[in-house]
Amino acid sequence: MCEKIKEKLNTEYIGRNLCYVKTTDSTNLLARRESCRSDGTVFIADEQTDGRGRNGKKWISKKADGLWMSILLKPKISPQRLSALTLLAGLCVVKTLREKYDADAFVKWPNDIVLSRKKLGGILCEAAFEKDSVSYAVVGIGINLFCESFDKEIENIACSLHSECGKKADKDTLCADILNTFEPMYTKFLKSGINAFLPEYKKYCITLGKEITVIKNGEEQNAVAEDVNENGELIVKTQKGVFPVLSGEVSVRGIFGYV
Ligand code: BTN
Repeated sequence: MCEKIKEKLNTEYIGRNLCYVKTTDSTNLLARRESCRSDGTVFIADEQTDGRGRNGKKWISKKADGLWMSILLKPKISPQRLSALTLLAGLCVVKTLREKYDADAFVKWPNDIVLSRKKLGGILCEAAFEKDSVSYAVVGIGINLFCESFDKEIENIACSLHSECGKKADKDTLCADILNTFEPMYTKFLKSGINAFLPEYKKYCITLGKEITVIKNGEEQNAVAEDVNENGELIVKTQKGVFPVLSGEVSVRGIFGYV
């Protein structure tokens, strides 16, 4: 598996060190345990027994059902700029699916990968800090590729590339394709900040212009998603006015369903 991915990589350092395991609790946890490894090391598993999503949710990651991987990064940036990584990774996945798999994919702010108005995948970024700097960040990427059925609680909102497009993507190729897209965009982001990719993120952000429900501390508020600002926050307009919401604080859903 590792050799096949490496053959298809055209990156300088992202994915040049690959750690493939058949099974692990979570590739994000594995990356955190192995955080002494070099910048750009990628961890991939066939199966995760404790796959994790945003807001403490579980991420079902059965054997060979999808691509479950995490990129270990050691960016020299301030912690405040880290939230942009989630947006960047989401955009890279969407661009790869569009360019290489002809899939009409979108990002649902901040981190969901959407196909046919259903959730195809997601991004989970985690980080460790030392004083005021980032020791390392882990960008976890999960994409449902082959699953045909989903647990009851998500069956109406989840999909896989195969269930929606009838495509049987090769996991190694998709992994290499994503890393090949990621490296140059990440390099630009390190140099120029979020503006290096924000216009493109907005272009593929399915949330913008939509009526949504913002859920904060269990409280729901209707709003219109107007913009994404330079902090990666979603600008929403409610009856009380226009204000930014931060991804860690809220969950967002469309008023007529998931998007
Ligand atoms: C979400 O949509 O809530 C984020 C899902 C992220 C899932 C991926 S799969 C690889 C990595 N390891 C994990 O435990 N989670 C991420």
